[in-house]
Amino acid sequence: MLIVDNKESLSKIIEKHRSEGNKISLIPTMGNLHKGHQELFASAPDDTIKISSIYVNPLQFNNSDDYDYYPRALDDDLDVCKENHINIVYVPDGDISHEIEIEKSIDLPKFTRYLCGQTREDHFLGVYKIVKHLFETIKPHFACFGKKDYQQLLLIKYIAKTYFSNLEIIEVDTVRSNNIALSSRLKRLNNESLEKIKIIYDVLLNMRHQMIDGNEFADIKKDALIEIERYDIDVEYLEHRENETLELANGQLNNSSLFIAYTAGNIRLIDNIQI
Ligand code: PAJ
Repeated sequence: MLIVDNKESLSKIIEKHRSEGNKISLIPTMGNLHKGHQELFASAPDDTIKISSIYVNPLQFNNSDDYDYYPRALDDDLDVCKENHINIVYVPDGDISHEIEIEKSIDLPKFTRYLCGQTREDHFLGVYKIVKHLFETIKPHFACFGKKDYQQLLLIKYIAKTYFSNLEIIEVDTVRSNNIALSSRLKRLNNESLEKIKIIYDVLLNMRHQMIDGNEFADIKKDALIEIERYDIDVEYLEHRENETLELANGQLNNSSLFIAYTAGNIRLIDNIQI
């Protein structure tokens, strides 16, 4: 496994692989790797050169504490990459924001203003910049992303469709442990909060069940919020939206999902389930 810390060396190594006729898969991460990331590694086609990036991207954090305290564990991460047959790990040395050359005016799709876009100002702009930069530098044939970050996944698909017509996005189902959607930020939760947030998936499953039985989303949402808040969890949003556009689903169950963002023990987390 090769560890590369700068764009120039990375480009050279990739060029060599390309000239030998190899295809390339990219799995971008911010490190502190868990089973969710490993599922992404496994879903990259085996006959490709698998490249993972580990980079906590400051451009996508709208809160400097969240950036400063984002869990970092590079040595362990490199072991995980090796065990999962990653060929190249790109770990940029320091902040690479200045390397990112991007169009002057960026018009993000409307759906980036909903859900997490309502409160996390410039978050999706930061994701757009780093992911487009990685796609431009690495020019992968495949790139793997998780459905846990569903709104991000839609943005990635938009970037691929708009600028990288030969890139196939591989979508990976949410990996859970004890019902909890795995997230690097879980490392910052104590056991008590970890116990409490197990309720989230149960509530989402129960809501889905009730909606399929014909109950109105608005009615069951009230009970769901009361139930969740009993566990000292603050709900930022709990919404029923269309899968493709993220517009409000307005009672339409086909191709729709439930989306939630919540805070437990001061840590903000997200989850979703398809109806
Ligand atoms: P990060 O949170 O490290 O996630 C990297 C990838 O792993 C994303 O595609 C995310 O959706 C996926 N992932 C995270 N938890 C998952 C889970 N429980 N099940 C399945 N997949 C999961 O998302 C980012 O980093 C960054 O925004 C990034 C795309 C790297 C850009 O900086």
